[in-house]
Amino acid sequence: MNKKIGGLAGVIAGETAICTVGKEGLGLTYRGYDIRALATSSTFEEVAWLLIYGQLPDRRELQTYREKLMRLREIPAILKQLLEQIPLHTNPMDVLRTACSVLGMLEPEQNTHRAEDIANRLIAVFPGILLYWYHFHQSGNRIHTQSDEETTAGHFLTLLQGDKPNPEWRHVLDVSLILYAEHEFNASTFAARITASTESDFYSAITSGIGTLRGPLHGGANEAAMELISRFKTPDEAERGVRTLLENKEKIMGFGHRVYKISDPRSDIIRPLSQKLSEKAEDGYLFAISERIEALMWQEKHLFPNLDFYSATAYHFCKIPTFFFTPLFVISRITGWSAHILEQRRDNRLIRPAANYIGPASRTYPLMTERA
Ligand code: COA
Repeated sequence: MNKKIGGLAGVIAGETAICTVGKEGLGLTYRGYDIRALATSSTFEEVAWLLIYGQLPDRRELQTYREKLMRLREIPAILKQLLEQIPLHTNPMDVLRTACSVLGMLEPEQNTHRAEDIANRLIAVFPGILLYWYHFHQSGNRIHTQSDEETTAGHFLTLLQGDKPNPEWRHVLDVSLILYAEHEFNASTFAARITASTESDFYSAITSGIGTLRGPLHGGANEAAMELISRFKTPDEAERGVRTLLENKEKIMGFGHRVYKISDPRSDIIRPLSQKLSEKAEDGYLFAISERIEALMWQEKHLFPNLDFYSATAYHFCKIPTFFFTPLFVISRITGWSAHILEQRRDNRLIRPAANYIGPASRTYPLMTERA
């Protein structure tokens, strides 16, 4: 098949009332609200509520929701034992995928009153799962997975760094979780919807999403971008290195997008935050390297950074290890996946497309004795 028409590019694969990507100008909206307004004025928990329940919470609903998420942070003992068996060198995305599956057995959907409660449970418990596994294998510590932090961003940083989080880092992480929360029919959301369309359970649909997000063409791009940026010590060195990669027809991770054609509005929001963090960071020179790569990619390929490119340095300057970048994407995107699973279920029809057959023409089956 022609590459340009492959990959379902431009195909309308269903209806949604959750999000628009690139529809109003270059924009992105969640339930009709512009991402710039949400990133400036809301918090991740507010956005999670908006996506899952369909409207913005009032002050009391938001406070109750935050308290609810805080109560849902405890990890079942059996899951803790399992996390202790998983080796440290495992990809953290595999840890989350497996943990999600295990939770589906320990707390099955048929025991849950409302599907929304599973979404909330996963948002609340995933940071603890990831960091319980990490600290146990790093230092043998069985950390408490509760914290006083009301926000998911603050909770994650507290469990990771073991201290009250730096307020600027907490703010940047909170904004980034808002930016990563939802993006219409991207690959992982579509995978989650396909699973939901078979009337499978909520956990299976989320597990499909995690497995799909893991790839470097999707969620894994933020880690790949960091790996690229940190190869270089100066902008000139970065320019030479990226030119060579382009000459070798390699893809530069964190650039390009299937839907956006001129810029990614989320990049415009995370970029200045990364720049500000770089001013205080010991390896803040990485920001100048990113800027040079951005300029070169535009000049040579007319490609712009997507959310993953400047998120990489923003996370790095918050002292988050690179292998947690894609898992953070998961923690945020559970909200979008959940909204889509609920929407798919409300008006479900099995998603089962057709294929254009390009194999051999119909032929006679030869008996074993007739084969050469
Ligand atoms: N670096 C270098 N070239 C790129 C590129 C990148 N990041 N992204 C696209 N291109 C080039 C392709 O090589 C291709 O060139 P060609 O026509 O000469 O073969 C052309 O642009 C179209 O790319 P294609 O991969 O067919 O576009 P797509 O719509 O299928 O892919 C992405 C979209 C996002 C998968 C793609 O841009 C990409 O792989 N980006 C890097 C991974 C990434 O950042 N993913 C996160 C997305 S939010």
